Amino acid sequence: MSKKSYVIKMRDSMFNHIVINDFASIVKGRRSVRNYDETIKISKEEISEIISEASLAPSSANMQPWRVVVVDTPEGKEKLRPLVRFNTLQNDTSSAMLLIIFGDTQSYLYVKEIYNIAVEQGKMPAKVRDSQLETILSMYPTLPKEIKVEVAKVDSSIFTMQLMLVAHAHGYDTNPTGSNSLIKAAAA
Ligand SMILES: Cc1cc2nc3c(=O)[nH]c(=O)nc-3n(C[C@H](O)[C@H](O)[C@H](O)COP(=O)(O)O)c2cc1C
Repeated sequence: MSKKSYVIKMRDSMFNHIVINDFASIVKGRRSVRNYDETIKISKEEISEIISEASLAPSSANMQPWRVVVVDTPEGKEKLRPLVRFNTLQNDTSSAMLLIIFGDTQSYLYVKEIYNIAVEQGKMPAKVRDSQLETILSMYPTLPKEIKVEVAKVDSSIFTMQLMLVAHAHGYDTNPTGSNSLIKAAAA
């Protein structure tokens, strides 16, 4: 499926599984939980919805540089285990581990596609797209690596926060963990 048809499909199937729709309860209720009810299995469809809803988060030039790897099989979690050594309880008991890659420093490669979708959906005039693309594509590729990493980290952190709030609105608990070894995990 192309990114375009995926985006359209996911936008059609958002907010179908929300169980808490009260802002204060969502913000107050989100707490880091380390030990989960192993009988709960979140469907792939709902995980996709949670990621799509979290992806409504703002990002620099709307480039959405976060990349998410979902690990929800016993085999995948077994591979992950040695890389999350202080957080094995979460790995073993959770329905899914979401590895959020902080983030794609070449996300400008997708910016045309993202802006074309915005124009097709009537959310951005074609003229604005063209001038924005000119600015973005002449600037971002030339930025030093450290700045690209910084931009991707900020955007991915905002996405991660939104993801945890969205998951809570779906009735699920989460626990953010940060680890350099997860970079290796994503490739495992
Ligand atoms: C970047 C980051 C890394 C974290 N790493 C871990 C971790 O490795 N293990 C863990 O159990 N909690 C981790 N936490 C969760 C914090 O301990 C938790 O957010 C904090 O104690 C506040 O509790 P709350 O999330 O319930 O409000 C991390 C949180 C953040 C933001």
